[in-house]
This record gives sequence, C-alpha cells and structure tokens, in this order.
Amino acid sequence: MIVVSGATGNVGRLLVRTLADAGAPVTAVSRHTPPDGGIPDGVTHHRADLDDPSSLSPALAGADAFFLLVPEADTRLVPEDLIRIVTHAGVRRIVLLSSVSVGSRPDATGRELLHRTEEAIEGSGLEWTHLRPGLFATHALHWAPSIRADRTVEAAFADVAHPVLDVRDLADVAATVLREPGHGGRVYVLTGPEPSTPRQRADTIGTLVGAPITVVALTAEQARERMPASMPAALVDNVLAFNGAPNAAEQAVSPDVATVLGRPPRPFAEWAARNIDAFN
Ligand SMILES: NC(=O)c1ccc[n+]([C@@H]2O[C@H](COP(=O)([O-])OP(=O)(O)OC[C@H]3O[C@@H](n4cnc5c(N)ncnc54)[C@H](OP(=O)(O)O)[C@@H]3O)[C@@H](O)[C@H]2O)c1
Repeated sequence: MIVVSGATGNVGRLLVRTLADAGAPVTAVSRHTPPDGGIPDGVTHHRADLDDPSSLSPALAGADAFFLLVPEADTRLVPEDLIRIVTHAGVRRIVLLSSVSVGSRPDATGRELLHRTEEAIEGSGLEWTHLRPGLFATHALHWAPSIRADRTVEAAFADVAHPVLDVRDLADVAATVLREPGHGGRVYVLTGPEPSTPRQRADTIGTLVGAPITVVALTAEQARERMPASMPAALVDNVLAFNGAPNAAEQAVSPDVATVLGRPPRPFAEWAARNIDAFN
C-alpha cells in the first residue's frame, strides 16, 4: 500500500491517479473529504491532519511507502513527531516533496520546515528520496480569468526565466520512486526541459488560444500585495526573491527527470495545450 498525503492538491491528485492507473494500491490523505469524483475508483480516502500526526496512523496501517507533502502555510507540523509515527507504522520507504530552494538557498528564511523535515527523514532509518522541484507550470493558471476576459496577464518579473516543471512529470517521478527500488538516499532536482520567462509562457498560451496576450508588468511591491494573506512574511520574501532574482542553480535545467524516467521532461507548451480549456 502506498499512502499519498496532499492527495487532493495539484501534485497529489495527479500522483494518486498515476499510481492507481498503474494498478498500485493507494490510500489518499487530506484534511477534507474530496468532492465526488475527486479521487479515482478503488482508492481509499482518509481524513488526517499532518499537524496532528496521530490522525495519520489509521491510514498508515499496513503501508509500505509514504509520499509526504509539507504544507506551505498555516501549519504547526512537527516533522520529528510525524516521522516517528510513520516509522512506528512499519513504513519502509518515504518520498518527500521538498523544493529546489532547500539546496539553492540553504540559509533563506521561510524554508526551515522543509530543511527540518529532510533532516528528520534522513535520520529515521527509512529508505528515503527527496524530490526538490523548481517552479510549477501550474502557476500560469492564475492568469486564466484575465486571459479569458481580455487576453491580458499581470506578471511581475516578466522577463526572468525559470525552467518550469510540469507537475505531471513530478507525479511520474514520484510514482516511480515510490514503487521501484534503487532511489534510496537520492536527492532529485526536478525541472522542465528549458528556461522560459512569464512573457514567453504567455506567448505560448496566446498561440494556443489564437490571440496575442498582453503582459501588464507588476512591481515587486504589487506582487507582494497579491500573495496569499495566510503565507508567512518570511516565505513571501523567499518566494519573491526566488521568482524575481533566481540564482544559477534555480535557472539550471536538471537531468534528474530524465534520469528517473528515461525520457526528457515535458515542455511548457505541452502543459499549456493540456490545460487550454482553462484559458478559452
Ligand atoms: N508551487 C511551486 O512552484 C512549488 C515549487 C517547489 C515545491 N513546491 C512544494 O509543493 C507543495 C505544494 O504542492 P501542491 O501545489 O500540490 O499543493 P496544493 O495544491 O496547495 O495542495 C495541498 C494538499 O495538501 C493538503 N493539506 C494541506 N494542509 C494539510 C495538513 N495540515 N494535513 C493534511 N493535508 C494537508 C490539502 O488538502 P486539505 O486542505 O483538504 O488538507 C491538499 O490536498 C509545497 O510543499 C511546496 O513547498 C511548490
């Protein structure tokens, strides 16, 4: 049995479906019950709060592998307590959804919880793999309402490039390392196949919808005002620095998707084509 936390979010939803399609027994975990059709047939859902690790125990009974998504905001998660529960349940393998910034900005504030979680896992005796993705392509979905309304997008750092990652590749990598041996003790940095700027990604969507997209530049301060109110200030600073002034490690294309999957990562255009209904 593979237990997937964060199972109703961007990554978890795709991961649960990928595992279920491959015939793996899956238990999906989140705090809220998914809507009808929110998880595939044959997948069991358990409500649990990672902030209260004992609530996870029923879902972990009999599990071999656990996918851990650490909530970004509004959390009191104590990684050491959580990992103790996972270990006591008899889980052998753990795959953590971490972030490239844990390696690329080791001293940045706002990422302490991920650092602590990586360390707690490494000291647990479990077979572990850390996945450190870069920026997700899904952020372009924030543009969907204004692209539909008047073919515009508001973007800060419109000409700053990142090798954005299709979360379907993240789900494919996670499904592989959860199911197959040979990935223990590995840290995989996951990116798309090439850097692109927000302006270039808007152009790609414009080509697909058959109309040019106007990019309206935001200042960094306007970008800060648009961050979720629930996000801790230190994390907001980190996200703005990551988006606006990425360092070489954050702009580099990683070979790790291809290392794990034996094929290159999907380009942004493929993500956009798959999600084009959101923009039409
Ligand atoms: N966005 C990026 O570009 C990027 C880049 C690198 C890494 N990451 C990492 O990716 C993760 C976010 O992934 P995502 O986009 O899939 O997230 P998401 O769409 O926001 O989904 C979060 C999932 O976690 C569940 N959840 C939240 N808090 C929980 C809690 N306390 N206990 C149990 N379940 C909880 C949510 O369901 P309920 O609310 O029902 O519990 C939901 O299923 C973060 O850890 C972030 O650091 C993101």
